[in-house]
Amino acid sequence: MIYLDNASTTKVDEEVIKTINPYFNKIYGNASSLHSLGTEARKALEDSRKIIAEKINALPEEIIFTASGTEANNIIIQGIAKSKGKGHIITTKIEHPAVLETVKTLEKEGFEVTYLDVDEKGFVKNLEKSIKPNTILVSVMHANNEIGTIQDLEKIGKICEKKEIFFHSDCVQSFTKVPIDVRKMNLSAITISAHKIHGPKGVAALYLKKGTRLKKIMYGGHHERDVRPGTENIPGITGFAKASMLIKEKEIKQMEKLRDRLIDGLLKISNSRLNGDRTKRLCNNASISFKYVEGESILLYLNDKGIAVSTGSACSSQSLEPSHVLIAIGLPHEIAHGTIRYSLSKYTTEKEIDYTIKETKKVVEKLREMSPIRR
Ligand SMILES: Cc1ncc(COP(=O)(O)O)c(C=O)c1O
Repeated sequence: MIYLDNASTTKVDEEVIKTINPYFNKIYGNASSLHSLGTEARKALEDSRKIIAEKINALPEEIIFTASGTEANNIIIQGIAKSKGKGHIITTKIEHPAVLETVKTLEKEGFEVTYLDVDEKGFVKNLEKSIKPNTILVSVMHANNEIGTIQDLEKIGKICEKKEIFFHSDCVQSFTKVPIDVRKMNLSAITISAHKIHGPKGVAALYLKKGTRLKKIMYGGHHERDVRPGTENIPGITGFAKASMLIKEKEIKQMEKLRDRLIDGLLKISNSRLNGDRTKRLCNNASISFKYVEGESILLYLNDKGIAVSTGSACSSQSLEPSHVLIAIGLPHEIAHGTIRYSLSKYTTEKEIDYTIKETKKVVEKLREMSPIRR
């Protein structure tokens, strides 16, 4: 299988598997236990916290491990909102559902919410103008999971700093691919997740600036600074830390090169367009819309050819709605429906990219021949 769906999840790196294994059946203690199996597990936990903190220029005590990026987003957004009781929240129309659905629920509970528009490339508009005296939280994602556009967090951070507003960013797609410096970017909180970076599933983290008051949304033991109760997933956490150390600058450059080769090759197909910005985009994302065809059909045909991609649309058998991200950047519904997201990894090869271009061209042409729509 040529796997080009790395924005959904990634293959676990062999090095990560080697790191994790002893924590299943040798150093399997509970990190809260006082015997040596417990203290060894605690050491592995705290070492991992240091590694993750260093990656984003945070303090180790500012890192809280969770079971998913979704959980981390909920803990931060609900926790900040509920600690204030009421107020105005600013987010964007292109967030992942883990943010959007959380904010929508708060809106139903009485919080006021502004969903910022984005321009045709996916860059956030009108943030400063939307800030009100009662704004309590700004949540703007770093890199978009569908179209790959990278927001200027430093600029947004400066605005939030000036207005003294809590600034959260969902960095699940950007972590290790785009530099993150929580101090330089004036970030109050971020979300990251292991399974997007060749780490295991079911483990993630949030960074929460020291001194922040957060209302608990989960109750239990006193783990993870009382913010996220539950026995720490030591195999997952050590695997997350290891994965965060493995990515190399030259692999990012290689992904960028292959991404551009893929984009250039696919744009040679008539009536195709690139979604998102050409340069300020994730090193591994190519989101392309093909007019007059359905993304789902392309996906299934490519699957038959051994290529795994995803549609840019949230279309499923239950819903015919196109992706909210593609609609937010101004794509008409019929073009949004013809979108494919190709997402590369450090394992992607030039040969795979060339085969993907060739097969996509064949599939699109074949589907267009069969299509009743006139071109
Ligand atoms: C931008 C973004 N945020 C949050 C998530 C959710 O992360 P997790 O799968 O760890 O819950 C994802 C995963 O697709 C994502 O792409």
